[in-house]
Amino acid sequence: MDHTHILEELSKLTASGLKRTLKLVEGPQGPKVHINGQEVILLCSNDYLGLANHPEVKTAAVRAIETYGVGAGASRLVSGNMEPHIMLEERIKRFKGTEAALLFNSGYNANIGCISALSDRSTDIFSDKLNHASIVDACILSRANVKRYPNRDVESLEGLLKRSAAKKKLIVTDGVFSMDGTIAPLGEIVPLLDRYGATLIVDDAHSTGVLGKSGRGTLEHLGVSHPSIIQMGTLGKALGSFGAFIAGRAELIDLLISRARPFIYTTALPPAICAASIKAFDIIEREPGLRKALQENSDYVRRELGSAGLDTLDSATQIIPVLTGDAKRTMEASKALMDKGVFIQGIRPPTVPEGASRLRITVMATHAKDDLYKAVKAIKEVLI
Ligand SMILES: Cc1ncc(COP(=O)(O)O)c(C=O)c1O
Repeated sequence: MDHTHILEELSKLTASGLKRTLKLVEGPQGPKVHINGQEVILLCSNDYLGLANHPEVKTAAVRAIETYGVGAGASRLVSGNMEPHIMLEERIKRFKGTEAALLFNSGYNANIGCISALSDRSTDIFSDKLNHASIVDACILSRANVKRYPNRDVESLEGLLKRSAAKKKLIVTDGVFSMDGTIAPLGEIVPLLDRYGATLIVDDAHSTGVLGKSGRGTLEHLGVSHPSIIQMGTLGKALGSFGAFIAGRAELIDLLISRARPFIYTTALPPAICAASIKAFDIIEREPGLRKALQENSDYVRRELGSAGLDTLDSATQIIPVLTGDAKRTMEASKALMDKGVFIQGIRPPTVPEGASRLRITVMATHAKDDLYKAVKAIKEVLI
């Protein structure tokens, strides 16, 4: 590829309204941030509980740096396995109520590592069409036969399972769909596991710390369980820190330690990041009020936008899309909102299907009611 090709690709992206650029957030994450010196209400962060800049979480990280230094220096399997990694895995295991847990350096890596470690050419993977890009990429890398079923359509999923003669069957679904804010129908999927000899992976990136009475995620929220379910969770969203985990049976974790390439071939998470996550779990367990505030704030925004006639799809969580359709219109709306002091990122293909661009609002527990009122007013002024 020469430089002319790069320029051509860039101009194609610009012409179709799909060129992406970076915005600089000045200072820490929070319900309001500074961009270009202007204070804006932040409505596109996954720091749902406001833990990314929480004083106790920061102190835990600083103390861990003093004790353990900054970097882990090597992969876990070489010499990078340190006390905070073990302590965090114990904490996750307790939080999730599973036999074991294994850290990964991000949710992207956890999906790639787990799905590809469990699959080969004799595997059929059944993947929801709206699953996150990391699952899509994991399916490609897995070499398995990938069968995609329409979003949350359990009847279609069962049809595919019935027709599958594969020895190994793996169902993969987001717990909360990252661009729609809808919840996977796990109550209907779980009975299929024994019926068709399948294993289920639930990506709880947006539900860990958020959904369920104790914040344990989608399974707790829906009151479903099965001993073979594999749960992925991220630590960079509601936990306010960084990294991710796979939680499940002890033998699963044993296998991943030997087979999951993104676990084996990468430097371990910095120990202070693990200490920050441990503290975040403590806060999540100690303060159910954070989840309540998040839910109240989300309900308010969803209700207001819905009753103004805006299409928020079937969102039932803190992720609230407002369908705008066209990519250019979406980015113009996002800019107009920024001018009014509201930061909501526009989401375009390939992240969402063609013609389904949207403003993706994410609400935080720490948003003040007054700011949400102002933001809703601005959204209505821009879109209606
Ligand atoms: C559903 C889902 N899975 C996985 C990921 C990746 O997680 P991480 O940001 O920790 O890589 C995301 C992140 O956006 C996500 O939305």
